[in-house]
Amino acid sequence: GTFAPLQQRDCAPITPPYALLIHRLHVARQFLDGRPLTLSEKILYSHLYNPEKSLGGGGRIRGERYLQLRPERVAMQDASAQMALLQFMTCGLPQSAVPVSVHCDHLIQAQVGATSDLSSALDQSKEVFDFLESASRKYGFEFWRPGSGIIHQVVLENYAAPGMLMLGTDSHTPNAGGLGMLAIGVGGADAVDAMTGTPWELKAPLVVGVHLTGKMGGWTTPKDLILHLAGKLTVRGGTGKILEYVGPGVATQSCTGLATIANMGAEVGATTSTFPYTSQMRKYLRATGREGVAAVADSAVKHGLLVPDQNAEYDEWIEIDLSELEPHINGPFTPDLATPISKFGELVKENGWKDELTAGLIGSCTNSSYEDMTRVASIAKQAKEAGLKAKVPFLVTPGSEQIRATIERDGVTQSLEDVGALVLANACGPCIGQWKRDEFKGEENAILTSFNRNFRGRNDANSKTMNFLASPEIVTAMSFAGHLSFNPMHDTLSTPTGETFQFSPPVGITLPVIGFATGEKSYRPAASPAPEPEADVLISPTSTRLEKLEPFPSHFEGSETMELPSMRVLMRVRGKCTTDHISAAGPWLKYKGHLTNIAENTLITAVNDEGGEVNVAVDYEPGQEPVQDTIPHVAQRLKARNQPWALVVDDNYGEGSAREHAALQPRFYGCAMIVARSFARIHETNLKKQGVLPLWFVDKEDYTKIGAGDQVNTIGLDKVIAGDPSAQVTLEVTKRDSGELFQIPTKHTLSEDQIAWLKSGSALNYIRDQKRQ
Ligand code: F3S
Repeated sequence: GTFAPLQQRDCAPITPPYALLIHRLHVARQFLDGRPLTLSEKILYSHLYNPEKSLGGGGRIRGERYLQLRPERVAMQDASAQMALLQFMTCGLPQSAVPVSVHCDHLIQAQVGATSDLSSALDQSKEVFDFLESASRKYGFEFWRPGSGIIHQVVLENYAAPGMLMLGTDSHTPNAGGLGMLAIGVGGADAVDAMTGTPWELKAPLVVGVHLTGKMGGWTTPKDLILHLAGKLTVRGGTGKILEYVGPGVATQSCTGLATIANMGAEVGATTSTFPYTSQMRKYLRATGREGVAAVADSAVKHGLLVPDQNAEYDEWIEIDLSELEPHINGPFTPDLATPISKFGELVKENGWKDELTAGLIGSCTNSSYEDMTRVASIAKQAKEAGLKAKVPFLVTPGSEQIRATIERDGVTQSLEDVGALVLANACGPCIGQWKRDEFKGEENAILTSFNRNFRGRNDANSKTMNFLASPEIVTAMSFAGHLSFNPMHDTLSTPTGETFQFSPPVGITLPVIGFATGEKSYRPAASPAPEPEADVLISPTSTRLEKLEPFPSHFEGSETMELPSMRVLMRVRGKCTTDHISAAGPWLKYKGHLTNIAENTLITAVNDEGGEVNVAVDYEPGQEPVQDTIPHVAQRLKARNQPWALVVDDNYGEGSAREHAALQPRFYGCAMIVARSFARIHETNLKKQGVLPLWFVDKEDYTKIGAGDQVNTIGLDKVIAGDPSAQVTLEVTKRDSGELFQIPTKHTLSEDQIAWLKSGSALNYIRDQKRQ
């Protein structure tokens, strides 16, 4: 039941290897007693490295077992790609094990309009774009230049295919699920797994069946379905789960509509969302130049792929009748506060919000399909005929150059501009705080967007701006009214000539009748470019945003034994310590590609259990007076003395997002070991990848026995490294003041591969060492 490791590019980058997947699924089924499978399971189980290891032995799989997966493709955006590429570079491979695309979209401001915004971004972030482009050239990645579009839209147009498994370093990667695949948002370290051909681990998600019946019409859109569902499930309701949509309602939706639904599955915390293959997907594949994919997908369905088995069992079941859905408006400040439009006016009154809209924004990765834009144009045309103009700034973000060029060619853009719309660059812009807006600074005000997220400060950096999420149709119609309590389905407006005007429901065109326009060709990469091993990766030595990553030295270098060198305890961390406590976000994000600079934020919001203060640690250098300082500064002092150190931490250390910086930074400062009451699994794995030894107290009470300045040695790690993973590692502790000596038993969760990572100093060192042999 084992398959040979993925050969370099053994699958064509675009056309899915369905014959191989069918074969693998057949093998996987042998470990599953012939039970019927959901679509999500079929996709996951046909991408296993070793089905026997992941599925064998009986018992429940979903929600219990860890799957070792081989994704087929990786997509990265310009912000998160930086550290992922810097890490990939340290392992010395000439190319990636799977096709990779890099997309420049997040670093582009929305200020005055597409052309000039793009040129200022090229100026401001030139060093980052140059780095990404040169690294892409060296390793043969497909590099999508600034202006080419938003990652998720470009992926849907070019790379997504039914039944595939893809990783993307962005939380809305699941957008590609609109084409019936599993696309999962991850951190950079996971992307590097796929790029180096290392099995990528995922706890088998639970599968929620969302059964769609009926047909939506009028003002209701796929966006309203997911806005409604977000209200039902809440922002945590999808954690550890895949939303798998089934039932006759699925086929009534366009492929891009399904993408909108999948995109916002991220808002309920779902691992991803997916749909069985439909004829609308086939049409979308053809319209985007992938007839070949459509043809093989059609035959894969006949072999049982791309659809769930009959009678497949779901962990939860949700019924939605599309005929009964009405448009929704969600917010403010959280995407799960869902209000049907018929009740929204009351909500505005109840909360005493000013009944004034200050801007309408449409498009983004969530809602900028041809269908969305033509439906919106139908509203704009009605308004124009009535002599109306948008009452508030009305901004349009096309998801891709292909969309921009197509709607321009087909007169859609003109219809929007006729009523006062401003078209922004094909990039994230206002969705991710790159919206330069000087009015309403610090003032409460309300905007309506067709985006997916509405956390405080996300759009214009004003934490009092209330962002309400809705379909692009509702945002557009309400922009003509200029107030929140307007319900375009029932209310009327007066025209400049004093007549009463009411909108008719929008109508649109699913796909352009004469096909998509390509637009500016120079934004696009060549298909499957060959790596250029001689190419230099451009990193300026004076840059504050980018820094070459040096491989971490092995802890065992020059050591006679296979025990960790003698360590000092830096501090004992109290209570909740998420990856955000370990590596804060916000203003630090600009240093994502510069480990020395970003490491200055290490643990700055962590609580020291000895004293209870935040960001306070003490350097107990033997023979010196203790020095109190911030946590990163004490870590720097230890690093300067080449003193390896350890952390003692509480329960569920490292919960939260899979931020690789939270493992890289302590390691960079010389952390060799972290002893915890318990770890969050993903972070524990990230520590192992960076060569930090995570140990668990056997007795959680031992946590209080070790403190700052104590000396710690491992006993028994040598046996683990010599090939006995079951050997126990004991800590020998020498107390800082009393010199008292005692031992503490620990447990570890290192697998054979992970032991090899530790020995080499990091997973990437191990890969490099393997290559040299
Ligand atoms: Fe970009 Fe906003 Fe989507 S940041 S990727 S447009 S969620």
